[in-house]
Amino acid sequence: VYSAYEGTTSQRLIVVANRLPVSAVRERDGSWSLQVSAGGLVSALMGVSNFRTCWVGWPGVYVDEGPDRDALTAALAKEYYVPVYLDPKVFDLHYNGFCNSVLWQLFHYVPLNMDSKLSETRTLQFQWAAHQAANQRFGEVVLQNYSAGDVVWVQDYHLMLLPAILKSRAPKMKVGWFLHTPFPSSEIYRTLPVREEVLRAVLKSDLIGFHTYDYARHFVSACTRILGLEGTPEGVEDNGSLTRVAAFPIGIDPDRFARALEQMEVKAHIAQLLNRYAGRKVMLGVDRLDMIKGIPQKLLAFEKFLEEHPEWRDKVLLVQIAVPSRTDVPEYQRLRSMVHEIVGRINGHYGTLTHVPIHHLDRQLAFHELCALYAVTDVALVTSLRDGMNLVSYEYVACQSDNAGVLVLSEFAGAAQSLGAGAILVNPWNITDMAAAIEDALTMSDQERRERHRQNYMHVTIHTSQTWADTFISELNDTHVEAELRTKH
Ligand code: G6P
Repeated sequence: VYSAYEGTTSQRLIVVANRLPVSAVRERDGSWSLQVSAGGLVSALMGVSNFRTCWVGWPGVYVDEGPDRDALTAALAKEYYVPVYLDPKVFDLHYNGFCNSVLWQLFHYVPLNMDSKLSETRTLQFQWAAHQAANQRFGEVVLQNYSAGDVVWVQDYHLMLLPAILKSRAPKMKVGWFLHTPFPSSEIYRTLPVREEVLRAVLKSDLIGFHTYDYARHFVSACTRILGLEGTPEGVEDNGSLTRVAAFPIGIDPDRFARALEQMEVKAHIAQLLNRYAGRKVMLGVDRLDMIKGIPQKLLAFEKFLEEHPEWRDKVLLVQIAVPSRTDVPEYQRLRSMVHEIVGRINGHYGTLTHVPIHHLDRQLAFHELCALYAVTDVALVTSLRDGMNLVSYEYVACQSDNAGVLVLSEFAGAAQSLGAGAILVNPWNITDMAAAIEDALTMSDQERRERHRQNYMHVTIHTSQTWADTFISELNDTHVEAELRTKH
């Protein structure tokens, strides 16, 4: 676990995210330990160290008020993490319900559905009420920890109501909001029953950021079409007051990976893996087990490749790491069974006594194991059906300095706009093309691999998470000053 409160600037940054960068885990002896949380948001924000940062978020568990809760709060406070404890029922309806069964789906172009199996308490109305209550609770915790001059940076789709809550209580607060998922076309967004409330609340921010220009454009058109506001190149205008909207593509902390690759533990692990995979090409997939990641599509493409290329059958394997995610949401449970079924079928059909084509792991790897895998594999397959950015593609590139491995990347990931020149871009819905991309990646000339890798490596090392945060926060400070000036005149 790293400490969040370092930083070179005197300004304090309060990062507010639904999930803290660590989740609390109860040990056998009853004490609490802290485990790094999964996901792109956490991995990017962990690379930000220029600010004195404190985090506000859900610690991964609910604990009743009392000494036990106090012990966890104290353990988190040592790292400048402030927990938001939400009543489990409210949390379920907010997180599993409104956030992950409604907003997450819609923002990734999965239309709302009428699942008749949903019980009464899971209906949108209850989910929405719980979502509002959860945002209110986050607001209270932020306000308890806020001092004048702090910058408050709200993260992601879980907390779109928070900017309005904060501004209503502290109008001078500097509030930025950043979305880590795509913002969909307004034609999809407008199906959300509470579309206006959500947009109006988030528009109370001083600065709104997205990973790509397209997401920012979709957001602005949602505001113009649904709220009748004016969209300008600067953002959204409502009666002369402007909310600045812009694209700030995120990155990673490449040095964290470079440092890891120098560690003895990682080097030993690399040697072990190279030995185990000797004589074979290895492809890698690292995803949260989420339908947006296109894992079944990736497996089907690999199956097609093996079917069409008998000569490769015992010479290539796919290591697929599927980190369990949102396991209480039925869609995620169904996906898990589907993935297991496809893996079983492919391994049963193409496996031999000495070779298994897919090594599938249903768990999060330790950081040193992950770095070693990134470093030794020949191809990375990122086949998201939609993805805000996808930082696995960045992490793979950062660890590939010697190998110049090939990145096969979905054109529906935000990263396609930044790593598109070096990657092989694919449409994950076209299994035949993806199988062909796998062949291209495995047979690419050394020279082409190195040239493509060079371009991507340059991008990943220049566009880091630190530059992302610096740019956003400096623009937020500027925007806020401009707004103050406007209100004075
Ligand atoms: C995505 C979201 C994050 C989220 C992460 C992990 O990256 O943008 O906000 O934290 O997935 O999902 P989880 O539901 O486990 O927090």
